[in-house]
Amino acid sequence: MPGDKSLTQRSLILASLANGRSRLSGLLYGGDSASTAGALRALGAKIGKLPADGSELLIDGVGLEGLQDPTLDLDLGNSGTGSRLLLGVLAGSEVVARITGDTSLRSRPMARVTEPLVHMGANFDWSNETDRLPVTVRGTRPLADLAWTNLVASAQVKSAILLAGLTGGASVTVTEPRQSRDHTERMLNGLGVLVEQHEVSEGWRVAMIDPPDRIEPVDFIVPGDISSAAFLLTFAALGGTPEPVTVESVGLNPTRSAFLDVLNRMGAEVSVEIESSLSSEPVGSITVGPTELQGVEVGSLEVPRLIDELPLVAALGARAHGVTVITGAEELRSKESDRISAMVDNLRAVGVRVEEYQDGLAIEGTEEPLIGAVESREDHRITMAFGVLGAVNPNNIRIDDQRTVDVSFPGFWSVIDKLAGGIGRA
Ligand code: S3P
Repeated sequence: MPGDKSLTQRSLILASLANGRSRLSGLLYGGDSASTAGALRALGAKIGKLPADGSELLIDGVGLEGLQDPTLDLDLGNSGTGSRLLLGVLAGSEVVARITGDTSLRSRPMARVTEPLVHMGANFDWSNETDRLPVTVRGTRPLADLAWTNLVASAQVKSAILLAGLTGGASVTVTEPRQSRDHTERMLNGLGVLVEQHEVSEGWRVAMIDPPDRIEPVDFIVPGDISSAAFLLTFAALGGTPEPVTVESVGLNPTRSAFLDVLNRMGAEVSVEIESSLSSEPVGSITVGPTELQGVEVGSLEVPRLIDELPLVAALGARAHGVTVITGAEELRSKESDRISAMVDNLRAVGVRVEEYQDGLAIEGTEEPLIGAVESREDHRITMAFGVLGAVNPNNIRIDDQRTVDVSFPGFWSVIDKLAGGIGRA
């Protein structure tokens, strides 16, 4: 599988902030990694060419106080994680930098990240519209300590605050309604930076009380991305492959794995084998075969643990008996596209009956062939969800832009073709 996108971004950032030479392997070779690496290079980190085959990449970090003013805008392309985490890093750095991105990224909310950072003392100038990129960051150090309550569970917001605390030498506490993915906490703990997390009556709390003056180089093997694996597992569950599919060396962080529980509830036999715990993240293989699927309900309790896989739950729902209902997922409207509207419109375009809610959708399963044209909306996960559905016989779906997959899963189309038995389905 391609390297995990979330862990690739975090390891590139932390390696750039370390004192000395880091060794990273298994990195995602994709558009989002290239965008984040490019921005970090522009800020002074010495990062070689990203390897296409997951082999080792050496990074010479500049230290927590060593970032420099870039000479050009930092263009984060399509990467929400890259842009938001860097806003945090830059807030605590004595640097002036303007961050921008592609049309999709420029339409996504950023004030959810800048608001807490302003409370810490950083300054942001919006170029065109408040809350939207481009924005110029004027960081400062030291930043003020912060205790922040976030109204949505967001690992990007939480991580931006933790990274601001790290570069800005501030103690930070973040409370969110439910636990979001905890990769940043695990990586920091792996580097000897104490980040505590526990349940509280308001939800989940993470605290970094005593930020260090420096961090040691990062030695990290990025596992495969469970969010990318989910497309292949879905293809297998839908009967697109002659044999069950096994994905190996995939990250199995429990804050990311609820898609497997949902697949299971829909009737799929999901078998998981733990291989190892690579640098603080559990890693293993997952096998799924073709299944008679049942509709399922997914609600707010589960949503943060499968937020990126919800388009796939909707795709599976289109092929399940009965109705699949997703609620408590309004955050989907702020992803690379408005994923609720993208799934609703596109499923309807291929003949599926769907009801739209502000915070989700209900999908009526059908056995009719799914035929029609869909829009990718500059969103890799929408493209791949329909890529998988369309490659299942006898469906026939035309997608307007197949290249969007390069953001997180270059080679997606040939993998699907291969899994389908090499008959050119995709
Ligand atoms: C990510 C967090 C999630 C997720 C995104 C990656 C991360 O976003 O949807 O693809 O790496 O921190 P939110 O934190 O906005 O929920």
